[in-house]
Amino acid sequence: MKAIEIRNKYLNFFKNHGHAIIPSAPVIPENDPSVLFTTAGMQPLVPYLLGQKHPSGTRLTDYQKCVRTVDIDEVGDNRHLTYFEMLGNWSLGDYFKEESIAMSYEFLTKELGIPAEKLSVTCFAGDDDCSKDEVAYSAWRKAGIPDERIYFFGKDDNWWIAGEEGPCGPDTEMFYDTGKPKCSPECNPSCDCGKYVEIWNNVFMEFYKDKNGYSKLSQQNVDTGLGLERMTMLLQGKETPFEIELFSPVMEKLVELEKVDNIESRRIVAEHLRSSMMIINDGGRPSNVDRGYILRRLLRRMTRHLNKLEVDLNRLDEVIDVSIDALKELYPELLQNRDIIKNVIIEEKDKFMKTLQNGEREFEKVANRTKNSGKKVLETEAVFNLYETYGFPPEMTEELAKEAGLEVDMSDYQKLFKEHQEKSRLGSEQKFKGGLASTGEIETKYHTATHLLNAALKVVLGDHVHQKGSNITAERMRFDFSHGAKMTDEEKQKVEDLVNKYIADDIKVEKMEMKKEEALAMGAEAMFLDKYGDVVTVYKIGDVSLELCGGPHVESTGKLGHFKIKKEEASSSGVRRIKAILE
Ligand code: SER
Repeated sequence: MKAIEIRNKYLNFFKNHGHAIIPSAPVIPENDPSVLFTTAGMQPLVPYLLGQKHPSGTRLTDYQKCVRTVDIDEVGDNRHLTYFEMLGNWSLGDYFKEESIAMSYEFLTKELGIPAEKLSVTCFAGDDDCSKDEVAYSAWRKAGIPDERIYFFGKDDNWWIAGEEGPCGPDTEMFYDTGKPKCSPECNPSCDCGKYVEIWNNVFMEFYKDKNGYSKLSQQNVDTGLGLERMTMLLQGKETPFEIELFSPVMEKLVELEKVDNIESRRIVAEHLRSSMMIINDGGRPSNVDRGYILRRLLRRMTRHLNKLEVDLNRLDEVIDVSIDALKELYPELLQNRDIIKNVIIEEKDKFMKTLQNGEREFEKVANRTKNSGKKVLETEAVFNLYETYGFPPEMTEELAKEAGLEVDMSDYQKLFKEHQEKSRLGSEQKFKGGLASTGEIETKYHTATHLLNAALKVVLGDHVHQKGSNITAERMRFDFSHGAKMTDEEKQKVEDLVNKYIADDIKVEKMEMKKEEALAMGAEAMFLDKYGDVVTVYKIGDVSLELCGGPHVESTGKLGHFKIKKEEASSSGVRRIKAILE
């Protein structure tokens, strides 16, 4: 079965069980610069897991484009991926454990045709925070899984939370038995020898965890996640995801182009290329910070490994074409963005190629110096210099060091990096101090205007509009928002008129403090959800706008003057940008 068939079967199955199919959120989270990438299907749904009403109802299903970067350096082995697709279904206070487990079992055995005897499951063993999951156990027994294939584990294995704080709960995980022999008599699904492969995770999210511990959510949710590439690999009887149709044409193309045979490098190129394409497709661009830096790391590591394979780099665009072709059924949007994707990747490759060779030479020198002095760890200053002068991400230097039997002290590197950052920050603060003090007032006005513009865009264009970014100077405001099409002149006029009406109405701007959950339940716009603590500041502008925001704002909208849109343009795929002024 191909990946696209598995995805379609999944969505249709849950649709037939009363779920609304919702679109994948972008891999770059909307309105939330505090997390780098979307890492799970539940992430864009957090407000709804906390109790806000979802417009599509209480049963949802989707495929979600995900990027997880913790394991970047593991890519190259036979299983790690930085990009993957997660199929998921959700109950938002609707069904709970029994129905969820019954549906999962039916889908696996009937729709995908997995023989029941190949399935093992794990449930939560219970502790002080939450009792043993007897309900999940009984549901599995009822579905037909015998006692000896139901295991119980503690929080390490059978509890799911994204990070340190948030909605969470016990989970039940399903495992596929590959038929390999047990690595020891104790071998069980929690062992990662490769006999048991996790295929699906159903989280029974009825708790919220914060600094003070666990509390019950207002509703009992189900959040499930099934990795598409892994399932496809298992159903096709393949040993690695690189053998399925999403990767194999790229792997074959590389074999055709390479002069040196190295399967690890081939996997790194194929995998990092795919992740980079998906990130660029959703508006990501290489830079030296945050998401942009991850993208840069992926592209630079890919370039180094293309080089190791001795692939003619002028033929990289052919490799990109093959990868887009392999993915176009799953993500037709790649076809529309083909040129942008190619330009960004090739530009970054060219930029890096300028310094790669000299950097490698410099690395050799440093490595030899280290070895000759009988040391194992590279000097941190040299690692920093490789980054500053040759654009070598330290993680890449670390990889080169490993290949040479040497090491990098990453924590020392981070320390040095911070010191340098602090120095340049102090420098730039000094530079801007005078200017900023005198522009505070006008910036405050623009800040309030941003909320009005956000609200007006929603009225004119629809509820899909969300803030994607904003930048304010003393001269103008810039506002990025999710919207798929160029705005017409009429739409622009309407938005401008509406904002000016809000200003003419001289509406009071109220600052309120409330619990985060309360604010979300009131439907507040939340651009930086995870950045705030339990109690959040919300700015309310009459009935016009309600947004989580740190401020500052003017006291009433009448102070803003006249609002004028100067420009409306594309910012990235699915994101528009407005530049506007107050006169
Ligand atoms: N949130 C859970 C996971 O990521 C289930 O979807 O595994």
